Amino acid sequence: MDGGSNAPVESTLSCARCGKPANLQCPKCVELRLPRESAAFCTQDCFKESWSSHKSVHLKLKLSRLAASTPDEQISAALSNGWLYCLKKGQTRTSKLPHFDWTGTLRPYPISSRRVVPASVEKPDWAIDIAREVLDAAARVIQPGVTTDEIDDVVHEATIAAGGYPSPLNYYFFPKSCCTSVNEVICHGIPDARKLEDGDIVNVDVTVYYKGVHGDLNETYFVGNVDEASKHLVQCTYECLAKAISIVKPGVRFREVGEVINRHASMSGLSVVKSYCGHGIGELFHCAPNIPHYGRNKAVGVMKAGQTFTIEPMINAGVWRDRSWPDGWTAVTADGKRSAQFEHTLLVTETGVEVLTARLPTSPNVYPWLNP
Ligand code: MF3
Ligand code: CO
Ligand code: CO
Repeated sequence: MDGGSNAPVESTLSCARCGKPANLQCPKCVELRLPRESAAFCTQDCFKESWSSHKSVHLKLKLSRLAASTPDEQISAALSNGWLYCLKKGQTRTSKLPHFDWTGTLRPYPISSRRVVPASVEKPDWAIDIAREVLDAAARVIQPGVTTDEIDDVVHEATIAAGGYPSPLNYYFFPKSCCTSVNEVICHGIPDARKLEDGDIVNVDVTVYYKGVHGDLNETYFVGNVDEASKHLVQCTYECLAKAISIVKPGVRFREVGEVINRHASMSGLSVVKSYCGHGIGELFHCAPNIPHYGRNKAVGVMKAGQTFTIEPMINAGVWRDRSWPDGWTAVTADGKRSAQFEHTLLVTETGVEVLTARLPTSPNVYPWLNP
């Protein structure tokens, strides 16, 4: 959480938490132009104490603004959904028409590329935005002594407060609302009663379903003071994902993703997990294409504008080989050494890539390498 802004407000306002005269305003509320009464706090402490409940105000406002969008905006949203649907089926409107029992003489014609809206305009708050906010909320509570079940509770509550469904919950009977993968866990760790310990690393993987689409992302966090080898592992994994994203654009083969990741990991003395891959995502949680993160893979297909998929490399300090716990979910390294992961949901654009789950200015500042 960022601190409350120090801009003075009229003293007639009272603190949203304790009712005392309020001198601070929530910067996010100011940015969203929310009424000053809902945004005032007396002290940084009151602001911080209120944050976990207060922040739902921001999401609710964004959602109500989306619901109030004009018919034009709703049509353009519907059109872009249709575009994604066509491309997902391996069709483009510029090439030959798909098989369909056309009912009349009308046929679809090419649709021009998406029109650009300046970055300064706030975008509709869909599954992706919610997923990022939810992951950031989870990251803010991570510290020694917190259980992974408590992290799952934050993820669950933040997701439903935003009107979303936590996609992992009951997915192939997965029992919780997110995955928490500690130390040697590669992925799909089940949140449980274990308290995080000083020196642990923990990946939190959040997927949110909202208005018919899924948004999927994860990050690996440091718990208290972590040894140098773990810092190296986590930073290198972050870089593997960044390097992979940097090659994404129309015409690039999916199999190239693994080459880039493998090169950086092996150069850094680390290994790449083979059993779990990036995936297509949209109306479905997991769909084609399958995107391996290791080198010399046989992934089929070429990237096309409009496709949405994840890249989510899992990088190991020791051997690449994985094993599964008897719970049927938890994937661990075969040698018990640590594993890290980062994941983004991506959109291929006409010119390159948009990282739909990108970090926000408000995302917790937990990676030293991102500071200038
Ligand atoms: N979020 C994971 C991914 O990145 C999938 C989790 S499936 C679950 O694809 F069932 F374990 F939640
Ligand atoms: Co994923
Ligand atoms: Co995920």
